[in-house]
Amino acid sequence: MAESESDAAFVEFERVQKSYDGETLVVKDLNLKMPRGEFLTMLGPSGSGKTTCLMMLAGFETATHGEIKLGGKPINNIPPHKRGIGMVFQNYALFPHMTIEENLSFPLEVRNIGKSDREAKIKRALDMVEMGTFGARRPAQLSGGQQQRVALARALVFEPELVLMDEPLGALDKQLREKMQFEITHLAHQLGITVVYVTHDQTEALTMSDRVAVFDDGRIQQIAPPDQLYEEPENSFVAQFIGENNTLEGVIKEIRENGLALVQLDDGELIDCTPVNVSQPGERTRVSIRPERVEYNKARLQKGVHTLKAEVLEFIYMGDIFRTRLRVAGNDEFIVKTRNAPDQERLQPGQQIEIGWLPQDCRALDA
Ligand SMILES: Nc1ncnc2c1ncn2[C@@H]1O[C@H](COP(=O)(O)OP(=O)(O)OP(=O)(O)O)[C@@H](O)[C@H]1O
Ligand SMILES: [Mg+2]
Repeated sequence: MAESESDAAFVEFERVQKSYDGETLVVKDLNLKMPRGEFLTMLGPSGSGKTTCLMMLAGFETATHGEIKLGGKPINNIPPHKRGIGMVFQNYALFPHMTIEENLSFPLEVRNIGKSDREAKIKRALDMVEMGTFGARRPAQLSGGQQQRVALARALVFEPELVLMDEPLGALDKQLREKMQFEITHLAHQLGITVVYVTHDQTEALTMSDRVAVFDDGRIQQIAPPDQLYEEPENSFVAQFIGENNTLEGVIKEIRENGLALVQLDDGELIDCTPVNVSQPGERTRVSIRPERVEYNKARLQKGVHTLKAEVLEFIYMGDIFRTRLRVAGNDEFIVKTRNAPDQERLQPGQQIEIGWLPQDCRALDA
């Protein structure tokens, strides 16, 4: 097989389904192609099938239907030790009775790597995660973050082409978590490793990944680079799940030739939106707009587009930004975020204002 072919789809899920009990499908129809070197994150609520997908890729579970390929070859035909997959799991503890060096030596011994080679590889892997001086200690003598770094080194020590990580930072505090996020992405790109990473922390997914696959109900709801996922959600689930989001409900009145839709909100007001997964006048829709894309400064509102009346309910000063809660079209939880700039008006509760946005920032999604 040509190298370029395997690179375009180094990891491939083709119509994969999985049932544990022979009745319910926990993975319903998974299609995914990952190029070599990609950092892909599976993000989704609990029970959406993320770990199951990793387990199938690692070979600990088999797919009920469909096929998983690695480097263009069906994974069933590759014996586990030849898959070249490293793994880091949240609860995949280090072997407690072994030293750090012995922990790292283990995956090398399993692969029949000679002693002097092993020593060199262990040193390089520990240095990489800045744990070079800890080789003789046992896991219990390390902090949580240090143990996690060793777990990472152990997953990388045999130079795998693919690394699977399932909530590897779940047990760490916020500061250490952020430091490790940076270290993991940095290492992965530096070594050119392909990574499948699982988390239910959306900030982690957005900051670390080349692409994010949003899971729900055993399916990928959307797979896209972080900015596209955030700015162009393809359905209501993704819009709600990723980042903060305002929703207004209504009915499609008209889809115009310029590609924009006119939506009548349930309180009768009209707004202009980009139709996303709606197609017909009369269809119910949930309109989605990000808090930082809402404008209330009259001078900055675009001429000719519909605006909405709003009442200020709460103003929260957050230092770098202002967070203002409004009542808009019957929704009391409508949030506007504005940058704290010298000319930025600080709204007062009780104030009646007019708000607007660019039609391309306002997405008409499924209701
Ligand atoms: N070994 C198993 N036997 C039977 N059902 C299972 C097994 N493992 C997982 N499941 C079920 O499959 C579904 C998907 O589970 P999975 O562990 O893949 O979810 P997840 O997305 O990783 O969730 P979490 O974020 O909570 O880790 C769940 O409904 C779960 O109860
Ligand atoms: Mg899981």
